[in-house]
Amino acid sequence: MARREDKTTDANIILTGFMGTGKSSVGRLLAEHLGYEFVDTDEWIAARCGKAIHDIFRDQGEAAFREMEAALARELGGLKKKVIATGGRLMLDADNAAALSRRGRVFTLWATPEEIIVRVANDTATVRPLLEGPSLETRIRALFEERRAGYARFTPIETSGKTIAEVVQLVLNRLEDRAA
Ligand code: S3P
Repeated sequence: MARREDKTTDANIILTGFMGTGKSSVGRLLAEHLGYEFVDTDEWIAARCGKAIHDIFRDQGEAAFREMEAALARELGGLKKKVIATGGRLMLDADNAAALSRRGRVFTLWATPEEIIVRVANDTATVRPLLEGPSLETRIRALFEERRAGYARFTPIETSGKTIAEVVQLVLNRLEDRAA
């Protein structure tokens, strides 16, 4: 994969998409290629709170977590040269999207619900509070449908059947298109 220099801008690159679409893995590799700092919003929130996301949901509730996401979106919106992997709902909030889009290019990573179901089921290291409980498949399909239109507002990148490196290359290609 060719390393590219971003000649025209040092805008942030923001990755959104449903849980399990590879935002963090793609973001990490993309940041390496661009020489940008990588930020994972869930990791930042967890580090600042000193506890895992599912513990924040359990102890403080989802609304408190969404407030933390909003504060972080405002903070990150003022920075440059970051690749930001966002939690699955962060960019679906209009104020968060406005704060981050101001100086950033936003890409939605897409995967089919079928692929998301497999990826989430295989990712036993991550506890996702919104998907806990029985019938993982039903929850994923319902939430995916609810969010589909929101994700469709940003530049699409298809990830199904692709490796992380291939997805990174697709994002780099889209960046080149717009820099031309
Ligand atoms: C959420 C997605 C999670 C995390 C939290 C809520 C969501 O991040 O922010 O569990 O509402 O979609 P990932 O998309 O990185 O799994």
